[in-house]
Amino acid sequence: PRRQPARRRTATYATVPVAVAALLGAAGPTAPGTTGAPGAGDPYFPLSGNGGYDVRHYDLTLGYDTGSRRLDGTAQLTARATRNLTRFDLDLKGLTVTAVTVDRTKAAFRRDGQELVVTPRHTLRRGREFRVTVAYHGTPKPVTDPDGAADGWIPTDDGAFVAGEPQGAMTWFPANGHPRDKASYDFTITVPKGRTAVANGVLLGERTAHGRTTFRWRETQPMAAYLATATIGKFQVERYTTRDGLQVYNAVDAREARAAAPVLKKLPSVLEWESRLFGPYPFRAAGSVVDHAPDVGYALETQTRPLYDSAPDLDTLVHESAHQWFGDSVSLTAWKDIWLNEGFATYAEWLYAEQHGGPNAQKTFDALYARPASDELWAYPPGDPGSGKHIFGTPVYARGAMALHELRRAVGDRDFVRILRAWATGHRGGHGTTAQFVRLAEEKSGKQLKGLFHTWLYTQGKPNSA
Ligand code: ARG
Ligand code: ZN
Repeated sequence: PRRQPARRRTATYATVPVAVAALLGAAGPTAPGTTGAPGAGDPYFPLSGNGGYDVRHYDLTLGYDTGSRRLDGTAQLTARATRNLTRFDLDLKGLTVTAVTVDRTKAAFRRDGQELVVTPRHTLRRGREFRVTVAYHGTPKPVTDPDGAADGWIPTDDGAFVAGEPQGAMTWFPANGHPRDKASYDFTITVPKGRTAVANGVLLGERTAHGRTTFRWRETQPMAAYLATATIGKFQVERYTTRDGLQVYNAVDAREARAAAPVLKKLPSVLEWESRLFGPYPFRAAGSVVDHAPDVGYALETQTRPLYDSAPDLDTLVHESAHQWFGDSVSLTAWKDIWLNEGFATYAEWLYAEQHGGPNAQKTFDALYARPASDELWAYPPGDPGSGKHIFGTPVYARGAMALHELRRAVGDRDFVRILRAWATGHRGGHGTTAQFVRLAEEKSGKQLKGLFHTWLYTQGKPNSA
């Protein structure tokens, strides 16, 4: 049978251009459509991400001159329209855009704050896959987050520390920058010879010509934009394959090498321990980037390959590794649920200590619980830390972990581990919300747990412990 032409809403769009489009048949230049939203609808970061399409794949070709700090980029995004689109946004802050094409046809574009607004020649039909290419260059600068931290492309003395949580991806590539939209990535990064460019996933190849080296990286598993990296520096590189067949790639700044070595040696055993607890490691590649970036002040769980601003201690390695399950594989749907990342990664540290000759989790809980009511720990509830200012504060990490400990006490060790595993496995490569976690915990334990979570995640002040 003949395929039905796309539904034309001529009744509601009884305008001349639509009539013309109808005459033309296919989605002509004036077919009915809507403009994509400038944000994904997250109240914490209203302009983060965009509406109207879904990115499937990013192909990023970058050249960075560590001397002048100039970045030259071409980003090719493969996306699918989720509605008829006459126009759509990408997140991009700073930098100069020289050309945009949609399906190889030149597209009109303009800049509006952190939005790159693209108007393709033809309306993009809902459900259709399309390809956007953006050519850009400039000197990338990090953004300052509401908590005062620098986020994004952060220049260092020998390259750049590239971490994007929560909104820094837009400082170095045009992105649909909300974790709700995950995609696979290819990176081709060219740097001066002697520098190493490290991204996510597996290293496909490395080639030096005319004094410059090009590194090709590929992450095939869905990844949120904030977890992408292209960290550049003078690194010592170590590569090996674990017993489980994981490809490990560690890049370490020489100034951090001595302090990092004993901790990095534990990476395979930490990942094995976490795999036994949380279920199979969600990715194919692993490793670390240990940079020397004293001004940064944090580490990030960049997918497959956490990024440290200095040699990490074992707790931090355990924490960033646990994020591979909680945060990277199972992503946030909304930033207010950030405790699903930070509370879980912190509780992994407690469990690791408990099972490796340190204090048990109850003891860690008790020490925190003993803090006075005036302590920062009780300053706000972790389940909705507000506006972004407190998004990475102590309550999110420590009280978030305390909430999990209370859950463990309520359901017992067996069910607690079953719940964690079911969470990691059931939402693997996808997303989760706090409400879904609570439902899962109730399902697996057969207990009423809404009260417990309400107390620990959403009430103001120091809760009563059971
Ligand atoms: N998720 C990181 C961690 O492992 C923290 C990122 C902090 N970012 C920031 N902008 N303050 O805990
Ligand atoms: Zn964390």
